[in-house]
Amino acid sequence: MAYDVNEVRKQFPAIGQSFNGRPLVYLDSACTTVICQAAIDEQLRYYTQFPGCVGRADHRFGQLATEAWEQSREKIASFLNARSAREIVITKNTTEAINLIADAFPFEEGDAVLISDFEHNSNTLPWRRLNARRGVRLVTVRINEDTTFNLERFYTALEKERPRLVSTLHRSNLTGVEFPVKEIIAAAHNAGALVMIDAAQSPLTMKIDTQDWDCDFLAFSSHKALGPSGVGILYGKLPLLEQLERFLVGGGTVTQEWKDGAPVFLGVPEQLEAGLQNAPGVMGLAAALGQIESIGQDNIARHVASLNNFTTRRLLGIPGLSILGPDDSEKRGMVISFRVSGMSAKSVGSRLNEEANVMVRAGKHCVGLYFSTWGGDDVVRASFGPYTTHDECEALCEAMERIAK
Ligand SMILES: Cc1ncc(COP(=O)(O)O)c(C=O)c1O
Repeated sequence: MAYDVNEVRKQFPAIGQSFNGRPLVYLDSACTTVICQAAIDEQLRYYTQFPGCVGRADHRFGQLATEAWEQSREKIASFLNARSAREIVITKNTTEAINLIADAFPFEEGDAVLISDFEHNSNTLPWRRLNARRGVRLVTVRINEDTTFNLERFYTALEKERPRLVSTLHRSNLTGVEFPVKEIIAAAHNAGALVMIDAAQSPLTMKIDTQDWDCDFLAFSSHKALGPSGVGILYGKLPLLEQLERFLVGGGTVTQEWKDGAPVFLGVPEQLEAGLQNAPGVMGLAAALGQIESIGQDNIARHVASLNNFTTRRLLGIPGLSILGPDDSEKRGMVISFRVSGMSAKSVGSRLNEEANVMVRAGKHCVGLYFSTWGGDDVVRASFGPYTTHDECEALCEAMERIAK
């Protein structure tokens, strides 16, 4: 069946607004996706029907909240094809999930962590800090000129550095390129390393299969998956989660009983989730994942590919405009980042916003290591979602033809 974007748009109440008599065009889904109605409804359900403490209160609200929380964790586990819901740790976002591993994994001095030079700051700074604090070496592998992953360099670095952990992205927020995670994971395991995957950009368009990939840890954020802000997921293989030191301690991590004057800790994942958690947010995420499945990741992938192909062809016709990453839109998923010679990205972004109601992002997009290694000016990034239309891409292209004159 053909993709009916108008039907899809009905599920997103923030979509379809106007400002100053013109439609508002949201092209910043790589930053955060628009929340779907199902995720809003699910949060409302918690607040209006059973706003109780999860896992602590035995009364009716507490029971219903705990039940909804557990079902949500099951849903998230099934979305990731995890072996069990116990492999799912709730965090605030991808950033916290990666920090949790950097802080709580039993690294030893002299261990190495290997990343690419194309990682988001959230998958760079935690490892830099680990290096400064605990002497864990940070090794970076150079990507290719077109921002794709360089497997040969990676294999050489694995051989030479023998890292304890490889931590790398699945899909880039800057150019949309996909890294070959299955090859990366298999080679890392062969070399005795564990692997953490930053899947922040993946849930909309790509099946994340933790068992098929055989990754050891993986992180993503609800707000990039049609869900609410303030919720993230850390997936980890159970025996590895059990090896983590406790990141935070406090209520929710221990049983009621103390033994010999000391608290008795719960198992994982609870012992890694100190304090009252964002139950409505987690329920909202579970509903959002259901929404993604009901539209279909393959359908969304095809839809954004068609938008990207259209936009790429039009924008490449503008003199002085160049695209960062592969020219082939198929390789860039839902992202198109570009520069216009003689114009700053910031001025292009603000003119698009002010003159055409087109919302894109301009800057370095939190990929500081890449810009500091490779150089180059800031970029304007347009990114699409399941609710984006060809007319909205047309609005971007028309405005760019005017602005770049
Ligand atoms: C690839 C990638 N990793 C990590 C993050 C950090 O996500 P969050 O801010 O939700 O923690 C982002 C956010 O843009 C991202 O795109």
